[in-house]
Amino acid sequence: MVESVVDLSLDEIKGIGPKTKAKLIGNGVESALDLAVSLPRELKEMLGGKEEVANSYIASARRLLEESGLLEREFIMASELMQKRKVMGRIITGSKNLDTLLGGGVETQAITEFYGDFGSGKTQICHTLCVNCQLPPEEGGLGGVAIYLDTEGTFRPERLHQIAESRGLNAEEILQRVILCKIYNSNHLEVIVRALGKYIERFKAKLVVVDSIISLHRAEFIGRGTLAERQQRLNSLIHRLLRQSEIYNVAVVLANQVQTKPDAFFGDPTRPAGGNVIAHACTYRVYLKKAGLNRTATMVDSPYHPYSDVRFRITGKGIEDPETSSG
Ligand SMILES: Nc1ncnc2c1ncn2[C@@H]1O[C@H](COP(=O)(O)OP(=O)(O)O)[C@@H](O)[C@H]1O
Ligand SMILES: [Mg+2]
Repeated sequence: MVESVVDLSLDEIKGIGPKTKAKLIGNGVESALDLAVSLPRELKEMLGGKEEVANSYIASARRLLEESGLLEREFIMASELMQKRKVMGRIITGSKNLDTLLGGGVETQAITEFYGDFGSGKTQICHTLCVNCQLPPEEGGLGGVAIYLDTEGTFRPERLHQIAESRGLNAEEILQRVILCKIYNSNHLEVIVRALGKYIERFKAKLVVVDSIISLHRAEFIGRGTLAERQQRLNSLIHRLLRQSEIYNVAVVLANQVQTKPDAFFGDPTRPAGGNVIAHACTYRVYLKKAGLNRTATMVDSPYHPYSDVRFRITGKGIEDPETSSG
């Protein structure tokens, strides 16, 4: 098992008996770290007691993390980091243009976000990656399973089958190595993401797709009063995903909706949904747009990729370069 603060058990926290522990675990709070980053109000609802009690559990969990010295492992030498980056892997998208934009494909130990309007190709990219992720490394994959968290009900095994078959792969085998989890509400998504490490290990996954990341929170938290809580919950959700991508060396790919910024007078008023919370945690953000029969992809806010535009198209094979490769 991975040695990290994520593993520190609830048993180590003073004042938590078997009943409370069972309730916590039932709600996806499985470790001291989970507890330490919980929101008091959320915890109070879970346990049904007073807010002070919830607060004291959170405080104990935080103290335990500090005292255990495990938090120190959160600090990492640059040399170690470089070593870690060496095992970083990539999954090809199916379009050489898009791969070039991404520096060779979607990376492990990172979150890649694809955002764009309805029909811009987010779900098609996710499907194609689920197939390509299973290819051996010399063919651009990582020889691993894909986990697909579907919040919009747009996952289609038939489409995976078509993509695999038209790429000359054994479609039946490919379908056995894509694990779907249909997500019903924002709480469900949070619980599944908390427990994701376990599933990644069990299935030997190399790719985790969340299609899409904000839709449920956006639909459920309506009105200004709830915006702060929504952002806080999204923040912990997305940081958990980022940590998991690093700890388990998997690629995390998010599809995201767009929102229109009404006060933008110049340029494209379209923005990814979720605001700064998502912006800060995503390593790569790619903006997808329709362009006739093709699509364009633009890298936004990347740490080292220059801004640029590439073209791809959606076909029976999933994602491909356009016929006349005009870049
Ligand atoms: N089998 C296919 N062959 C060609 N194009 C397809 C196929 N399946 C889907 N598409 C294209 O993909 C588009 C939908 O893209 P999708 O990834 O679902 O959008 P979103 O960004 O909303 O997730 C459709 O409008 C269609 O143009
Ligand atoms: Mg979609």
